[in-house]
Amino acid sequence: MLVRDLRKTFGRGEGRKKALDGLDLTVPRGTVHGVLGPNGAGKTTAVRVLTTLLRPDSGRAEVAGFDVTTRPDQVRYRIGLLGQHAALDEELSGRQNLELFGRLYHLGGRGAARRAGELLERFGLADTGGKAVRQYSGGMRRRLDLAASLIMQPEILFLDEPTTGLDPRGRTDVWQAVRSLVGGGTTVLLTTQYLEEADQLADRISVIDGGRRIAEGSADELKALVGADRIDVIVRDGERLAAAAAVVGAVTGADRPATDADRRLISAPVADRMAALAETVRALSAAGIDAEDIALRRPTLDEVFLHLTGHPQETAA
Ligand SMILES: Nc1ncnc2c1ncn2[C@@H]1O[C@H](COP(=O)(O)OP(=O)(O)OP(=O)(O)O)[C@@H](O)[C@H]1O
Ligand SMILES: [Mg+2]
Repeated sequence: MLVRDLRKTFGRGEGRKKALDGLDLTVPRGTVHGVLGPNGAGKTTAVRVLTTLLRPDSGRAEVAGFDVTTRPDQVRYRIGLLGQHAALDEELSGRQNLELFGRLYHLGGRGAARRAGELLERFGLADTGGKAVRQYSGGMRRRLDLAASLIMQPEILFLDEPTTGLDPRGRTDVWQAVRSLVGGGTTVLLTTQYLEEADQLADRISVIDGGRRIAEGSADELKALVGADRIDVIVRDGERLAAAAAVVGAVTGADRPATDADRRLISAPVADRMAALAETVRALSAAGIDAEDIALRRPTLDEVFLHLTGHPQETAA
């Protein structure tokens, strides 16, 4: 999949909004590519262009080797889409929903039944396949959505925020389902607001903001952009947080270490891991500050996002 200098503006005059502002993406076959960005970054707009649902103003987008604007039929034939909001019939069972999709795609009655059975099995829905969808939990529903988007065994699957609104259990189930697809050779483009989701699933991640790519790499490469590892200190007594932050700042050379009062946590980047650890232990003890925990760790993608955009990643509703 190839995207070059893709542009799309909605509205005109005062209300003009550049949803895509020169977006570039390259996604090799058989990989999972994460598109990570805050609300309004242009993720859904990009997915709509790539799935032929929306014409771009300019730029080039090729999916499975076909141009989305000049060969939309060829593209549609090869893709599956899991939209931000899915279209299941609440009164029908999971199995009936899948069979219906299969018949819509001309699989025939028997072909549709066979495919529905395979997919229910694959996504751990074989036992609940007979229940009406309205009785499904959020996670089961999302897995059924995923199954529906795979009826035609697409070469490329688009997942637009597949786990937004799910609880952690539902999210893990969906991740498992996505991982099992990749083994089958499907190329996946996944949009998400959850840094951990991109971290867990994606081979490469494009961070987008304001309709353009602001960084790209594996999760590890993006974390390396922020540079240093970090030291986290949790103080036993919340009252001593500011004093401890001053100590950590002095040891690490960080101007103002990040603090989180609720968690009694201080966090700062370190240049030399072991020296910083030893020196922090010594300096806290010298200052008479009791630490409950001291740990070295890699930066999180949240910190990457803050570093890249200058604003923290919003927590999804
Ligand atoms: N049909 C439309 N008409 C007008 N503006 C639109 C339309 N679709 C999207 N936009 C605007 O374009 C920008 C990008 O929207 P988009 O839906 O692509 O963001 P997103 O990254 O998917 O966000 P979210 O994480 O909230 O789903 C936003 O400012 C949005 O308000
Ligand atoms: Mg969206």
